[in-house]
Formats: sequence, structure tokens, C-alpha cells
Amino acid sequence: MSTTKKTVKSVEAAGPVTAPDIRAWKGERKIACMTAYDYCSGLIADQAGMDLVLVGDSLAMVMLGHEDTLSVTMDEMLHHTRAASRGVQRALLVADMPFMSYEPSVELAVRNAGRFMKEGRAGAVKLEGGVVVAEQIRAMVNAGIPVVGHVGLTPQHVAEFGGFKAQGKSVDAAKALVEDAQAVEEAGAFAVVLEAIPEEVAQLVTDSVSIPTIGIGAGNVTDGQILVFHDVLGLFDRFTPKFVRRYAELGSLAVESLKRYADDVRYGRFPTDKHTFRMPEDQLNGLRKIKIKNKKK
Ligand code: KIV
Repeated sequence: MSTTKKTVKSVEAAGPVTAPDIRAWKGERKIACMTAYDYCSGLIADQAGMDLVLVGDSLAMVMLGHEDTLSVTMDEMLHHTRAASRGVQRALLVADMPFMSYEPSVELAVRNAGRFMKEGRAGAVKLEGGVVVAEQIRAMVNAGIPVVGHVGLTPQHVAEFGGFKAQGKSVDAAKALVEDAQAVEEAGAFAVVLEAIPEEVAQLVTDSVSIPTIGIGAGNVTDGQILVFHDVLGLFDRFTPKFVRRYAELGSLAVESLKRYADDVRYGRFPTDKHTFRMPEDQLNGLRKIKIKNKKK
């Protein structure tokens, strides 16, 4: 398939996908990524042919109902990563490091990243930040842990940003973003997420690094795209960011379906014969002869 920019392969590559595969696909093929949070969503994302599945800390909001991503814990993230790993067979599974699981020290960062690989069965980890977390990234990579960076709108910094707002909108901010992405690459990350930044800045960053950029709200110039499972499928209604395309309305479909079930129960239309176990014929007579003591009225 030819595009105006460059010839890219649009088909799914054979799996299982590794971090070096993703790294090598820059400029070769667009990288399709999606979040997932458990066995079921992991299986669906994998069967749909995603190259990379991220157990994002967005699970705090879409799975656990928190206001932002700050409250989710290491243990919760591990629990969900382990579950997703049972569903994801082909894609590279990446676990998101939660708030305060890597910032306080390099040692803590390596320990927690190691837990995601060892206990969560992830193939890589992601952490937010650029220059300020470069040391952590370097140490993780030295310990054999593949790392994805994340710059631009980093939701764990929502308090500092004053809300979920697009970043990199001034020349100085754009320069800082380039520095951050380059620091992440120099530290050894194999890819970097660019979230909620102008497309022109995403182009500059993409051209400034030799690792793939994975965009979410960064326009159509990055090496890959990622979206949140619940946003894409219409399962999360609290707000829909500008950069989301909803491919289905499964939330309303689920409510409609469950309403029909509740009505069927109330009106005695469910279960039917098809859903019902029967006593073997030769046991029925004996069953009818059973006398019930203290029969309830
Ligand atoms: O937590 C998350 O879902 C993310 C992606 C949206 C990049 O960090």
C-alpha cells in the first residue's frame, strides 16, 4: 500500500512480537497498539491483531472508577497485567508503571519493573517522563527490561498541568519535548509514547529520534497509534477526549442487552427448555415419590 509519505506495510506481522521488532518497524510499518486490562480485553486486542498491548494505568479510571490515574497501586497493576498476559499471545505486552513506583529512586524503579516482568509476565514496561526519568530507564534496560517512554501529556502529572490538557504548544515547550524524547532514546528505551501534542510537534519529535513514536492525540505523523480500549469501544462515558474515534457503542449495547435479560426474568421468559437440565426418565418416578416434610406454603 503506498501513502504520500512512504511505503508502509499495513498487514499484521507474525508473532510473538518483541521489543526489538517494534524498534525495527520505525519507517517500515505503522504500529497498532491498544490498552487492555484483563484476560478478556487482552484476548480481544490480541485477536484483533494489535502489535503492542499496554496494561495502562488508565485502568484506574476505566476499570476502577477513579477520577485520575494517581491512585492505582503496584499490586493492582500487577494483578491486571497477570490477567492480561493470559489473553495476549502474539502482541508485545507492556505494563505501565504506576505513580510513585519509579520516581523516588532508581533502585525502586528497577525492582518494580522487575516485578512486572517476573510476576506480571509482561514483555516490557512503560513509564512517564523524559529527562527526569532517564536514569531509571537506563538502569532498567541494564537489568534486561525493555522500556517504553511517555512524554507530552503525562497523566500522572495532571495536578501539575492543571487538568488533562494538550502539551507542547509553545516553541520552548516543543524544544523541551524533543529533549525529553531524545533523553528517553539515549537511556535505551525502544519506543516512546507522545500524548496530546500538536501534530507539528509530533512530526518534529518523530524526526528527532530513531525509536518509534506511538501517538495518542499526536496526529497522524507518528510511527504508531495507541488508544484506550474502553474509549474505542464506547465503554467509558465520563468524557471522550478529542483524539478518540469510537468504533462501537458497546456500553449502550450492554445496557440494552442486560435490560432485555432483566425483563425476560421478570416476565418468566428466561430460562427456557433450551437452558434447562432434565432428570433422566428412569429417575423421574422415584423423584415424584419423595415426600417433602414441612412443605412450605
Ligand atoms: O495508561 C494509558 O492508557 C496510557 C496510554 C493511553 C498511552 O498511558
